[in-house]
Order: sequence, then structure tokens, then C-alpha cells
Amino acid sequence: MSVPDPYWLRDNCPCPECRDPRGGQKLFRIGDLPDGLAAVEAVEDAAGLTVRWSDGHRSRYPAGWDAPAADGDDRTEHAERLWAAADFARGLPEADWGAYLADPEERASVLAAVRRSGFALLRGVPAEERQVLRVARSFGYVRETNYGELFDVRVEPDPANLAFTGRAIAPHTDNPYRDPVPTLQLLHCLRNDCAGGDSGLVDGFRAAALLRAEDPAAFALLARTPVPFRYRDRGTELSAEKPLIGLDPRGAIREVRFNDRSTDTAALRALGPAGLGAFYAAYRRFAAITLRPELRLDFRLAPGDCLLFDNTRLLHARTAFEPGTGHRHLQGCYADLDSLSSTLAVLRRRAAVLDELEALFEGEGAGEYLGEAVTMAAHMLQAAALARAAGAPPALVAAALLHDVGHFRGSGLESTAGTDNRHGATAAARLAPHFPPAVTEPVRLHVDAKRYLCATEPGYFDRLSPASVRTLALQGGPMSPAEAAAFAAHPYGADAVTVRRWDEAAKDPAAQTPAFAAFRPLLLESMRR
Ligand code: OGA
Ligand code: ZN
Ligand code: ZN
Repeated sequence: MSVPDPYWLRDNCPCPECRDPRGGQKLFRIGDLPDGLAAVEAVEDAAGLTVRWSDGHRSRYPAGWDAPAADGDDRTEHAERLWAAADFARGLPEADWGAYLADPEERASVLAAVRRSGFALLRGVPAEERQVLRVARSFGYVRETNYGELFDVRVEPDPANLAFTGRAIAPHTDNPYRDPVPTLQLLHCLRNDCAGGDSGLVDGFRAAALLRAEDPAAFALLARTPVPFRYRDRGTELSAEKPLIGLDPRGAIREVRFNDRSTDTAALRALGPAGLGAFYAAYRRFAAITLRPELRLDFRLAPGDCLLFDNTRLLHARTAFEPGTGHRHLQGCYADLDSLSSTLAVLRRRAAVLDELEALFEGEGAGEYLGEAVTMAAHMLQAAALARAAGAPPALVAAALLHDVGHFRGSGLESTAGTDNRHGATAAARLAPHFPPAVTEPVRLHVDAKRYLCATEPGYFDRLSPASVRTLALQGGPMSPAEAAAFAAHPYGADAVTVRRWDEAAKDPAAQTPAFAAFRPLLLESMRR
């Protein structure tokens, strides 16, 4: 085989000398590698690649280790869906706050909308002070600034900012004078009953892309001209110099900073007469695009609405309002896209685990269950329904639902006959990477719980189904008094007994069971944090 660049290959060595086996962090520095490093011998087989190096080190790369990771930078124009107002003719990306809190998949779809379209609207967030912080903390961290952890937007007697009057505010991004700029903004509406005061959003990436198409020279000029922004008050002095259009190293649009209110116009003088002429022509051209009606999405925030938007991409605006006609009060805060993206990625990772489980329920789960009158899936769904009806905590409902996944062969997992004592352990091992002990321990112990109950509860044995009696012997028969005492002392022994009782009761061929999907929110909430 051809060995790729030796430094790259060696940089990927997975051995415990090169990488911490726990977190995968590199244990050597790139500068530690000798000059002239070369592979002396490279042998590839089905299991992977073995390399002997000129410095005596040996590396072993498992097959498939270098499958390219898909993503790349997901913050550029290429990763997102650029829009004009008409794209939302059928409605805004929005969700109900209650549903968002109750269902992690609803949460994921809201966060995905923020990534894809640059914004989402949560409806029904209690119209009370400080709730905006709760929204931010539902997926990330509040970015506290000199304005505090949150800021109020309402009319003030002695306004230091246009925002605190009834005037219209043209499309802009917030806090361009900060570096790093807050990448995410939230605006929560508490009151909005004045005449006017509607909200507007413009996709700044779309506006920049239009400028590039219509006037490439103006686009290039704005992408390379640092613009000074400034904010100062008695206790604050903030400034940053950034282009209005920020590009990634490959030239893709990645950030828009646009705020005529806080541009340090005096400092622009440094561009010189000719530079100023070219800059203002391009700036005005870009500004005119951001004001095109077809780009501007107009809507009205109602009390309880909380708008989340990407402050590196979308421009936000409001129409003028008449303070005398009522009250308008928004509370806003800043947060960041990286934690939002991380939360979304973890939610998706968890959803993928559930997709796999759901496919097992629908595939193998439709099969016969050790001679019982119900399928394996119906049996487990029934057990979960009983647990839920009993008001069990989520982890125990999850345990009831998943207690027999050890019977599934699934992909790449060792098959079990399903009758011996191991299917509990097999299930627990399979679930352990994704679920905490409160779920996996009752699952692991649910077979032992049967042996325990047979030993300690008069009449329990007589209630077992014929199939369950048959497997009892294979599972070791009733526990000895010593075994039973040890089991009773186990921290999850009692939970395992509880699951076992639902297990026993979940063999009714006439029972109506909910679908696996009905348990997804609960499963997601009970997964490992
Ligand atoms: C601001 C702002 C929006 C609004 O204060 O920067 O954009 O709707 N306010 O009042
Ligand atoms: Zn603003
Ligand atoms: Zn069972």
C-alpha cells in the first residue's frame, strides 16, 4: 500500500503511548517527532494497518480508522439555508415552549432551525422577567456582558440608545464592537401592545451573497476592509475592527457584522480619501440590499414569544412604535452558537441510539417471544406501559421497556440463546454506553429478580407463565438464602424486583400497547448526561 504522509499517519497513532486511552488526547507534541520520519515497514490486512517506524515506534491502525469525518465548518453559507422572506410564507420555524421542554426531539428541531435558517421562535414562554435566561440555559450558556446577564428593551426617560425610544431600528447585528461577538441573541417579548413595534429579520448571508453576485468588487472590498466599531459609556470602552463581511479561509461567507449605529465613523478616516470613496460606495450598496423588502421577514412578537437568532448571520430590526399607545417591553440576552451546536449534536447522537433500538423493536422485536402469546416487542412495550401507569420514574420505565433487549441479536452483538441468565447482562452491556445504572442495573438484574422472588415470595412461582417456569431452571433456579440476602442488599435489587413484576404481567395478548415512539422523549431524558 502507499503510506500517506508519514507525519500525518504518525500523528494519528492510536497506541496508549501516543494517546490517552480515556479521552483520546495526544500525549506527544508534534515537535517531538524526529526529522526524516519514515515508515520502515507497512503491512495492511483486513484488521487494519501495522507500521514500523524509522524511530523504532510501532503503530497499529484498526481498519476504517481514517474514514473521513463528514462535517467541516458548519458555520459558513454552505452549511445553511439562505432565505428570503417568501421562503416563510407557510410559517416561521417555531415551537411551543412546553413541547420544547417536554420532548428532546422538539428541542433538536428548534436548535436545528437556528443552525439552518438562523432563527427560531419559541411561543408560550411565560411572559415574566428573566425567563429569557431560562431559554438560553435550556441549550447553552448566557454570555454576560457589561449590560448584565440580560438587558431590557423598552422606552426609557433618558435613553442612551435608540433602542430605548420608540424609533424604528434598521436591520443590524448586535454588539459589533465586541471581539468575540456574541454569536447568538435571544429576545423575549413581555409586552407589546403599542401601535407599531413589529420585528424584522434579514438573512445577512443572503444579502452578502447577493452583493457578491451583483457587485463582486464591492463584496471583495467589504470582505477585506477592517471597520472600526466602538461603544463607550461611563464604565465601558469597547472596540473591535472587523470587516462587514467575514470570510472563511476558503472564501465562503461566515460572518456578517452590520450596525451603522456603532460604526466608529471618525476612525474610518484611516482609509484615506480614495479608500473612503470606494468603501462608502460598497457599504451603501450592501446597506441597500439589506433594506430590500423581499429580503425582510416581518412579524410581530406577542407576549411569551422568544426569538432566538444567529447574530453572526441575521440582521434584526423593528418598526417604529408610538409609546403613548401602550407598552412594549422585551428582555434579551446573548449566548453562543458553539454550545447550541454541541447540544444539538448530542441530542442527535442520542436520537440515533433510539433509532437503532426502535429498528430492533420493529424488526426482531416482531418475532416470537420464547413461546409466550405476545411478541418480544409487545411484551416490552406492555411492561413499559405498566411502569408508566404505575407512575414509575423515567429511568424505571426505560428499564421496563428495554429489559429484554438482550434477546435481540442486533448488529455486531453476540447472540444469546435468550433463555439463560445472561440476557440481562447482555442487555445491560449493550445499554451501558448510553444509559446510566438506574436503567441498566434493573435490566441486568431482572433475571436474578425472578430467582429472588421464587425463593422469597410464597405463591410467586405458581404465577409464572409456563415458558418462564421452563427457563427458570436454566437461569439457576430459585436463589439460596445467602444469594437472596445479597440480592436484597444490592442498591438496585428493589428496582429489579419492581421491573420483574411488570415483566411477569406483560404477557397479555389482548393488551393495547403504545408504540415505541411514544417512549422516545422519556428514553432521551433518561440517557446518560
Ligand atoms: C436592539 C434591538 C429590537 C427590538 O435593541 O438592539 O434590536 O425589537 N431591539 O426592539
Ligand atoms: Zn439589536
Ligand atoms: Zn421480559
